[in-house]
Amino acid sequence: MSKKQIFRKERFGGVRYNSKTLRFKLVSEGPLKTDKVIERDLPKRTDILSAPVRIYFELTRKCNLACKHCFANAGKSAYGGLELKAFEKMLDDMWAHGVIDIRFTGGEPTVREDWFDILNYAKRKGFVVSLNTNGIYADHLETTKKLASLDLDQVTISLDGLEKEHDYFRGKGTFRNTMRSMEAMADAGINLRFNTVITKLNVHQIPQIIAIANGLVEEINFFYMRPIGRGIGQNHLSLNFEEHFESAKDAIALRPKYPNLNIMHFEQSFIERSILNSESAGKTMEALPYGNTTLAISCDGGVWPHGHSSFQDQRLLLGNLMDESLRNIWTESERLDSLRQWFRDLLARCRECGEYLFRCAGLNFEMEIAKLSGDIEKNQFCISNTPVPPSKCERDCNK
Ligand SMILES: C[S@@+](CC[C@H](N)C(=O)[O-])C[C@H]1O[C@@H](n2cnc3c(N)ncnc32)[C@H](O)[C@@H]1O
Ligand code: SF4
Repeated sequence: MSKKQIFRKERFGGVRYNSKTLRFKLVSEGPLKTDKVIERDLPKRTDILSAPVRIYFELTRKCNLACKHCFANAGKSAYGGLELKAFEKMLDDMWAHGVIDIRFTGGEPTVREDWFDILNYAKRKGFVVSLNTNGIYADHLETTKKLASLDLDQVTISLDGLEKEHDYFRGKGTFRNTMRSMEAMADAGINLRFNTVITKLNVHQIPQIIAIANGLVEEINFFYMRPIGRGIGQNHLSLNFEEHFESAKDAIALRPKYPNLNIMHFEQSFIERSILNSESAGKTMEALPYGNTTLAISCDGGVWPHGHSSFQDQRLLLGNLMDESLRNIWTESERLDSLRQWFRDLLARCRECGEYLFRCAGLNFEMEIAKLSGDIEKNQFCISNTPVPPSKCERDCNK
């Protein structure tokens, strides 16, 4: 697909999607002359988009690494996922309903023997396709060649600090191995991004990590470490509210020094996107993407509001694409509707808070789920004392 704007028609106007940046806005006007237009049957409901814009698609839970902080509990003996044909069927369903963007993740997607075929199928259908990978391959030049031939829209590689810190989380020798793959991919002209989980170990390395990224990748994105899966056991290395905000300031302050690198910090970029979205037409969508603009599919076909949900709480399972269509789950799932309502309630609480969109993006869904599931006692990324509104699943389960 050439790098142009994609416009998906909606009742209120449409989704304007930029296939270079992989970002989108909800707008009230119609398509421009240069847009590639996606038009599908629109559901009767007007309070939701016609379909997710992006799907996070888990290909496998198997992995050639076993990182200490991995939220997916991935490893060699984990579940490997459904067969190729099942993935093709699910991709057909997503295409039929107008999904624009598929982000493949795992586990480590490239440990599947048919990873190339699945990505190739998605790309040939016309999706915007990106891949999350750890950069550890049996033959990095061969894998780079395959990746380059797919003409993916983005490849995201994880870099969790300088050598010692990255290797602490990901295993000895992984930093050098990953950097070697990164360099080969950059030479092959692949559009690259770094994902970096910030912890107490690497928070002081932000300038050096950004310096490595500059010239090699187009974007770097810093995330907080989630207390999910094996991440729960690393919670002592997690930042607190203040440290997290300071790390965002440190990262963003380096933007003028590196004009050709898109420096994103989860906290700050969420705030920036929330502000953009509030100016746009789809105000009913609010700012939280889960179940409103995105969904996640696990490698057994399970549908979840978020890529982390299946590792947090089985009460978040919305259905399975092997049994039902995406449209059915998207428009009919009572559980999804009750979660959408809960997200609105959570957001309403944030809007009352003086920190909202100033130091805090108000994004507390995963942390609130971690509390509900008993994985953590306190949401360390929220400093408000206002009671958290109960979710319907909590009310149901406490009966
Ligand atoms: C589960 S991995 C799958 C893709 C690939 N195996 C990799 O490591 O990049 C997807 C992303 O989640 C990140 N991740 C893993 N555990 C995390 C945690 N506890 N908190 C936040 N991000 C995490 C990884 O660093 C990676 O960028
Ligand atoms: S973070 Fe990625 S590379 Fe590390 S164990 Fe999890 S899936 Fe594997």
